[in-house]
Amino acid sequence: MAIGRRSWPKRILVGLGAFLVVLALTVGGGVTWAFTSRDVSTIGAVDFTEELTVPPLADSRVEADGTRVFQLEMRTGQREFRPGQVTETWGFNGDYLGPTLRAKRGEKVRVQVNNRLDEASSVHWHGMHVPAVMDGGPHQPVDAGGTWTPEWTVDQPAATLWYHPHPHGATESHVRRGLAGMFLLDDTATEGLALPSAYGVDDLPIIVQDVRFRGSGFDSSRAIFSDTGALGDRTMVNGVLAPYRTVGDELVRLRLLNASTARTYNFGFSDDRSFALIGTDGGLLRAPAELTGIQLSPGERAEIVVRMRAGERVVLRSNKIEIGMDFWGTRFNGGDDTFDLLELRAAQTLRPSPALPALLAEPETAQARDAVRERTFALTFARINGREMDMGRIDETVTRGETELWTVRNSDGMPHNFHIHDVQFAVAEVNGQPPSVALSGAKDTVFLPPGTEMKVAVRFDGPADPNTPYMFHCHLLWHEDAGMMGQFVVVEPGGLPRLSVPHAHG
Ligand code: C2O
Ligand code: CU
Ligand code: CU
Repeated sequence: MAIGRRSWPKRILVGLGAFLVVLALTVGGGVTWAFTSRDVSTIGAVDFTEELTVPPLADSRVEADGTRVFQLEMRTGQREFRPGQVTETWGFNGDYLGPTLRAKRGEKVRVQVNNRLDEASSVHWHGMHVPAVMDGGPHQPVDAGGTWTPEWTVDQPAATLWYHPHPHGATESHVRRGLAGMFLLDDTATEGLALPSAYGVDDLPIIVQDVRFRGSGFDSSRAIFSDTGALGDRTMVNGVLAPYRTVGDELVRLRLLNASTARTYNFGFSDDRSFALIGTDGGLLRAPAELTGIQLSPGERAEIVVRMRAGERVVLRSNKIEIGMDFWGTRFNGGDDTFDLLELRAAQTLRPSPALPALLAEPETAQARDAVRERTFALTFARINGREMDMGRIDETVTRGETELWTVRNSDGMPHNFHIHDVQFAVAEVNGQPPSVALSGAKDTVFLPPGTEMKVAVRFDGPADPNTPYMFHCHLLWHEDAGMMGQFVVVEPGGLPRLSVPHAHG
C-alpha cells in the first residue's frame, strides 16, 4: 500500500517530467525553427530575366489659364507577376502602380481622380505642399464610383514625391494591392544642372516593394513576433520581380522610393561601389555626397547617381539594416534580410556623362534657430503622445509662417518612422548629434529605431485652414492604420481650429 501510494506521485512526476522535456524540445525546436527560418535572402537567387518596366509619364492637358490637368483612375485588375499565375491587383490607370505625374514649380495642377473600386479610398500627395483640403488624407475620401478634383499651385523645389491612398484605417491594404505612383517636380533653379535627367533613360524611377504571394492575391498577414507589419519574402521594382535594365550612359540617376508597407531597405550595390547621394525626400542636397549605402524606411525617397563601366553588370541590393533591436527583434523584423533588387547592365559603349555639379541647390527648409515653439511626440505602438488617431480631435494647432522645433522620440521597443504632411523639414539633431548626410536634406519622413530621439525644424507656410487638418503619423502602414496618427491644423496668428468631420463613408 505504501509502495502504491508512493508510486502514484512518482509516476505523475515522471510523466510530468517527460511531458516538460517534450514541451521544452517542441517549444525550443519551434522557436529555433522560427528564428532560423525567419530571415530572408534573395542574394544570388534572382535570375534577372525580366526587363524593368518604367511607369509611363502621365498624359496631361494644359488649359487656357495654364492649369495642367491629369487624370487618375483607381481600378481593379490582374497581373501575371509570375508566369502562369494571376494575381488580383489594384492600380491607377492600369493594373498595378500608376503613371508618373510631372509638373514644374509655379504651375497650377489639377488631378481628376475617379474611384472605380468598389470601396471608398483617397489619393494623398506625399511630400507635396498643398492646401489641407487638397491633401487627400482621411478627410478627403473618394467614394466608390465617385470623383475628386483637387487643384493647387506647385510651390516647392524640384523633388521626387509620390501619391498613394490614405483611407482611414485601410491605407495598408490599398497600397499593398498596388495603388502608388511617383510625382516628380521640376524647377527653373535646377533644370540647367548637369544631372542625368532623361526619364526612363539615365533617370529611372525605382519603386521598391516587398511582396509575398498567396493564391491569387497578396499575403498581408503578419508573421509571429513581427512588430513592423507584414513582410514579404521577395521584392519588386516597378512591379517587376526579377528586373534588369540596360543602360547606355556613364552616369545613371536612380530615384529610389520605398513604397513598401512595413519593410526598411539599406540600398547599396553588389560590389560595394560608392554612389553619389544627390537628393532626399524634398529635393536636391546642397552638394552631392559619396556613400556606399542608404537606408530608407517606408515612404522615404533618395536620389542617387551611380557610375557605370562599359559592358559591366552590377546589382542594386538591399543589405542588412540598422534596426536598433536585439538579435531576436532584428531577426523577426526583417533586420537580417537581404535582397537582390535590380541588375543594371551597361551597354558595350556608354555615352559620356558630364561630371556632377559641385553645387546642386540652396535648401529652403526651416532652421532650428528660428524656432518659436517646441512640441514633443512620443511614439509607442499604436499611439502618439498616448493617444490613438481620432478623426474628430485636433492634436496640434500651428501658426502659419512660424518655425517650430519638433522632438520625436521612439519610446517603444519596436521601430517606427514619422511623416508630416504638407511640409519638408530639416533634421536638426539625432540623439543629440548632428544628422548624417543621409538626413542632411529636406525630409518629410524619418526612421526612428527604438530609443531614437530626433529634433526636426519645421515651418508651416500655409495657407491657413482652421477647418481641415493635416496628418502626422508612423508610415509603417499597419501602425498608421492601428492608430499611430494625429492631426494638426494651420491657423492665422491667434486663430483657433474649427473641425468639421466629413460624413461617414462606406
Ligand atoms: Cu505617405 Cu500620410 O502618407
Ligand atoms: Cu504624406
Ligand atoms: Cu510605427
